[in-house]
Amino acid sequence: MPRSQSRYVCAECGHVASRWLGRCPECQAWNSLTEEAIPHPRSSQVTGRKSPSPSSAPQPVVAIGREAETRVSSGIGEMDRVLGGGIVSGSVVLVGGDPGIGKSTLLTQVGHRVASSSDAGHASVLYITGEESPRQLRLRCERLRAVSDRFLVVGETAIDSIVHHILAVRPLMVVVDSVQTTFDPSLESAPGTVSQVRNAAATLATLARNEGLCVFLVGHVTKEGVLAGPRVLEHMVDTVLYFEGDRHQAYRVLRAVKNRFGPTDELGLFEMRDDGLQEVVNPSAAFLAERSANASGSAVAATMEGTRPLLVEVQALVTRSFLSSPRRVINGLDYNRANMIMAVLEKRLGLRLGEHDVFLNVAGGVRVTEPASDLAVAVAIASSYRDSPVDSETVIIGEVGLGGEVRSVSHGDRRIREAKRLGFRRALVPRSSKVGDTASVVLHRIRNVFEAVEISLRTVEGEAS
Ligand code: TYD
Ligand code: MG
Repeated sequence: MPRSQSRYVCAECGHVASRWLGRCPECQAWNSLTEEAIPHPRSSQVTGRKSPSPSSAPQPVVAIGREAETRVSSGIGEMDRVLGGGIVSGSVVLVGGDPGIGKSTLLTQVGHRVASSSDAGHASVLYITGEESPRQLRLRCERLRAVSDRFLVVGETAIDSIVHHILAVRPLMVVVDSVQTTFDPSLESAPGTVSQVRNAAATLATLARNEGLCVFLVGHVTKEGVLAGPRVLEHMVDTVLYFEGDRHQAYRVLRAVKNRFGPTDELGLFEMRDDGLQEVVNPSAAFLAERSANASGSAVAATMEGTRPLLVEVQALVTRSFLSSPRRVINGLDYNRANMIMAVLEKRLGLRLGEHDVFLNVAGGVRVTEPASDLAVAVAIASSYRDSPVDSETVIIGEVGLGGEVRSVSHGDRRIREAKRLGFRRALVPRSSKVGDTASVVLHRIRNVFEAVEISLRTVEGEAS
């Protein structure tokens, strides 16, 4: 390929450069630029593609129908909640995640539920598989006990044939697994490159809107930048869901990062079992199940994930460091926020963390970013530092400021109610938060980190003696 006809496109953000660069100047990703042929402009494509509706005559805004969007239940409560109340017809949902996390499993299960709940006679779900063979998909369906005659499968990667199959079947829901294997032979770049992936997504999005279908696109998140990541597609689709979790652990979290039809802070929780993904109906109990009572360095935080309170165990291990710059290993929490809390503890409580390695972890593999979990992080660190356990029936709520003050948090009552439901008997809450007293949970209204550490570490010592 002559050099003058190629360009270099960042697989992370889609930035285009005329020569190869080691680092993308736009998103700063390393080694993400790949060579592609410069696409020839095709007039039919430019004019025919992007319109959101076939009736394109302008009309007064008051004359446009305002029926609420029609939603179809996915048959899985956690999925419906993350989507904002079900699948919206005419919308495109991108499901991104690491390879092997369970995207195909999730969409096979959703497809099966939609297929078996739709009206008889209506061919309802079309699963287009480009990664696995239809035979492999059949085996998966059997394993998931999701075999239905209204769940159609086709192995196809060429975009024109995919469009043809969709128009021939006219299903309620389409799954394209994955968008990276889909390609247009008339474009001169390889499957998985930014131009191929964008072209496929744009074609399918137009089709979804014009025909009122729900299209799910599966997209792998790639670190090496070999294939174009879902980030280059985010603006083309209505909803972006990320499926995350530690592959070696059973829990999977489904999170909306963009949603034109619902909130983006909801979280769906699943457990990967031998027979597929199961909804976790009581996530707080699941996350606290393996907690060892009365071990130092463990504190329970009550965070809000969307509309739902979630209790998680924050674990800290503080050990003497023999390194000139002590180690800070932080999983499941924001790195900078955790460092800020350590600085507050060093300055306000005199903990000599500069001489210690600190390991922080949120049990169960979830990621907690809400500042209301700050105080639990601080108490966990102090507990490990002093090797003094926190009472296992105490839940800790509060944001920590730089002065060591404990700041108020929203939805205090909801968090306390969840703690009460799970049998907690004591709670540390910010003094400034309006939390009503309850009979079964004793509230300690805290002003600063010092008080929080003293109260939570003292209660156990007091009881033990
Ligand atoms: P998969 O859905 O193929 O992941 P993705 O499409 O995101 O690449 O899931 C792959 C993993 O899930 C694989 O390691 C096996 C595991 N799995 C189960 O544990 N139980 C099951 O019922 C299924 C179908 C898969
Ligand atoms: Mg897959």
